[in-house]
Amino acid sequence: MSTIFANVGIVGTGAMGRGIAQIAAQAKSTVTLYDTQAGVALTARESICAQWDKMLEKGRLSAEEAQACKDRLLIGTSLGDLANCNLVIEAIVERLDVKKALFADLEAALPHSAVLASNTSSLSVTAIAAQMKHPDRVAGYHFFNPVPIMKVVEVIAGIKTASSVCVDLANYARQMGHTPVMAADTPGFIVNHAGRGYGTEALRIVGEGVADFATIDRILRDQVGFKLGPFELMDLTALDVSHPVMESIYRQYYDEPRYRPSVITAQRLAGGVVGKKAGEGFYSYLNGVAQVPEESPVPEVDTIPPVWVSPRAARRMELLQLLKDLGAAIETGASPSPHALTLVAPLGFDITTVAVVERLDPARTVGIDMLIDDAATKRRVLATNPALRQDMRDAAHALFALDGKAVSVIRDSGGFVTQRVVATIVNIASDICQQHICSPQDLETAVTLGLGYPLGPLAMGNRYGPTNVLEVLFNMQTVYGDPRYRPSPWLRRRGAIGLSLMHEES
Ligand code: NAI
Repeated sequence: MSTIFANVGIVGTGAMGRGIAQIAAQAKSTVTLYDTQAGVALTARESICAQWDKMLEKGRLSAEEAQACKDRLLIGTSLGDLANCNLVIEAIVERLDVKKALFADLEAALPHSAVLASNTSSLSVTAIAAQMKHPDRVAGYHFFNPVPIMKVVEVIAGIKTASSVCVDLANYARQMGHTPVMAADTPGFIVNHAGRGYGTEALRIVGEGVADFATIDRILRDQVGFKLGPFELMDLTALDVSHPVMESIYRQYYDEPRYRPSVITAQRLAGGVVGKKAGEGFYSYLNGVAQVPEESPVPEVDTIPPVWVSPRAARRMELLQLLKDLGAAIETGASPSPHALTLVAPLGFDITTVAVVERLDPARTVGIDMLIDDAATKRRVLATNPALRQDMRDAAHALFALDGKAVSVIRDSGGFVTQRVVATIVNIASDICQQHICSPQDLETAVTLGLGYPLGPLAMGNRYGPTNVLEVLFNMQTVYGDPRYRPSPWLRRRGAIGLSLMHEES
């Protein structure tokens, strides 16, 4: 099949321009590199050719293919050298005024039939094209770093973009071996918008003193299956990149509470504690290796008291079975005996509230997060309350560690760690669907490929139950009185009638 765009221009040949040029040339387009900085396009060409040499060594490209790719990679010395391109992809500095000036120059240099695309990650495509004579041919084409490995690209239609332009860009993405997702021109598009929940909610949990960075990372890796905890991820991305994105999306959505950034990252950024590349972030790094604080050991306990489980516990049957498997003495009375360890498993509510509402003795009441089936997780999470006795805390910790599974004990918070983070991710994703920013399917594809989550956010909501997620959000709204936890109407409707979140409305 011949390529949709035979001649492609790349303007700005830094990290992103290089990656895009590489896959465009591999898709058999003739690619012209242009950069305003002297010598940069030449260096870019050398570095891309070195990539092909590596692929040749690894047997992923034949000698003829590598040579043909190199022959198709040209250098331009002015925008005039791009005059015969059918597509120009811009990957220059992220500034609206500079991008607008470049697009005006490109419009003057190229025929009307040429498509002009921007790799912007945070600017409005509509704003970039606003003063152009033919804004219909301008679209966003948002790749991820490193481009040859991150196989997803967001195709963004500005207000005046012709739909045929987006269709051609999507087909061209497929020719380059990438998966296109179609996004409306909104702050953060899909991936950077959907990604707001993970780090910001984790930061709120730390900000409330519920658990420390390392504990939250462990819980989200072991309970949900994230490859990196939110703090490990922020250390890798570095706060000089991620904090401004958090602020920008929050501001662009006119201070929408769901996206509110954290003073923790603002202060760490100001202090230069930005992450792995600085040698110090949420973790400190020794020769590039994160120094992770040890987990608190399982306490030594002589005897474990009998256990009473609240009739309102989530997954109560599974919890009782688990206790049986652990060999606990289970009380079956209507209320706990005076010596019993009292277990509650709320969704969204804090342990203190549950103890008060269910008239339980808080000194003996411990919470366990049962949002996720115990068999499906590698860690159990218990929550204390301010009145909990140390012997009861220790007994609960020791009991749930009896079969060798890891246990974290956190302070009381509405919704534990996993419930809070999962519900926030699902809620933000639902709101993306509510706003028709993209199709539910494209949302799932964009998040799994662009963020590497173990599941798409809607599939995650389905796995843990849309009704459960809704319950977590409703109750957290009560605990915190904060609009950031109000459920999106899209989630409310589906959760309320027990529909799968992947169910499309007719
Ligand atoms: P970079 O700083 O590595 O490269 C930018 C290049 O553009 C430089 O070589 C610079 O000399 C050149 N340049 C600046 N103004 C120019 C102009 N008027 N005409 C021609 N060349 C010009 O930047 P990077 O990281 O490659 O990012 C480029 C764009 O891609 C930005 O819009 C950024 O937001 C976006 N982006 C970056 C991602 C990343 O992870 N680095 C991910 C997705 C998008």
